Amino acid sequence: MGLFRLVTGLPGPSGFGSASTAEQVTDGIDASRLTVIITGGASGIGAETARVFALRGAHVIIAARNMSAANDVQQHILRCTPTAKVDVLKLDLSSLKSVRAFADQFLSLDLPLNILINNAGVMFCPYQLSEDGIEMQFATNHLGHFFLTNLLLDKMKTTASKTGIEGRIVNLSSIAHLNTYEGGIWFDNLNHKEVYSDKKAYGQSKLANILHANELSRRLKEDGANITVNSVHPGLIMTNLMRHSFLLMRVLKLFTYIFWKNVPQGAATTCYVALHPSLEGVTGKYFLDCNEENPSNLARDETLAEKLWDFSEKLVASTK
Ligand SMILES: NC(=O)c1ccc[n+]([C@@H]2O[C@H](COP(=O)([O-])OP(=O)(O)OC[C@H]3O[C@@H](n4cnc5c(N)ncnc54)[C@H](OP(=O)(O)O)[C@@H]3O)[C@@H](O)[C@H]2O)c1
Repeated sequence: MGLFRLVTGLPGPSGFGSASTAEQVTDGIDASRLTVIITGGASGIGAETARVFALRGAHVIIAARNMSAANDVQQHILRCTPTAKVDVLKLDLSSLKSVRAFADQFLSLDLPLNILINNAGVMFCPYQLSEDGIEMQFATNHLGHFFLTNLLLDKMKTTASKTGIEGRIVNLSSIAHLNTYEGGIWFDNLNHKEVYSDKKAYGQSKLANILHANELSRRLKEDGANITVNSVHPGLIMTNLMRHSFLLMRVLKLFTYIFWKNVPQGAATTCYVALHPSLEGVTGKYFLDCNEENPSNLARDETLAEKLWDFSEKLVASTK
């Protein structure tokens, strides 16, 4: 059914589908009371998400490592929506020091924080360690976002309880979470160059995005916090993400073009999950094409999610 809907663009139970755009799924939504941080908002899906949030009136913070690209996106948004509230702050997710500096800078602004979109990502990089000595795809896609979310959580909780508006966290995962190492997360071999697979390391990091969302959702429910956490697969979209596999993806697209989306369609699921009123109270779920779907068995493994949480906490602590 998922594949049929993907190809035909037919809407699912939510009323939206693979052909829906971010503007369509947020039509009529007033986001003017909301402040949102979008990581990796300087290109691709993140930039379109930022534009549409600004169009709906939200105060958008673009968190980016490439400041010049982020400033260009800011200018583009202001040209599209002259009244937009959009700021740019520096963030390199592959560096825990940079993540802390970003959080300190954001918190010093004393703004509310309603929505966090953990969108930034890298894909299929050749083997590389981050400045903290952690495999790059895991460090950027999962660990940086894990640490960032924890640093911003108190602010989100305070905002939600002061305003009475539900906070929302959205993790950008991928269908690629299905293609990971045996057992899902290779806790013991995370940094081993000899067994490194660029594809499986990406899948592992995207599985980690779902497990992180699920475990955080469970913890927030336990706390009684008015914040939901969900993960999404945005679809297949030709963006800068393909920089390490440009030729492969171009060839793949030739044969699979019916499965691909454009960027406005690619940003739709994120915007739907982050803004749509019909998802109030919905947490710990996985969405694609703006509809809830089941991720892999590993992604639904609660013990694995808890193990990843403890592992990530220890990794962060070990780099201090
Ligand atoms: N496109 C797809 O088909 C697809 C499919 C499934 C899932 N996704 C997910 O969707 C998300 C957005 O991807 P996209 O397709 O929009 O790709 P994109 O255009 O390359 O956007 C990714 C953004 O993340 C930023 N980023 C990368 N490393 C970073 C770091 N260390 N610190 C801060 N920012 C960093 C990039 O900045 P730079 O420009 O500086 O690198 C870029 O702005 C990713 O999480 C990806 O895994 C995409």
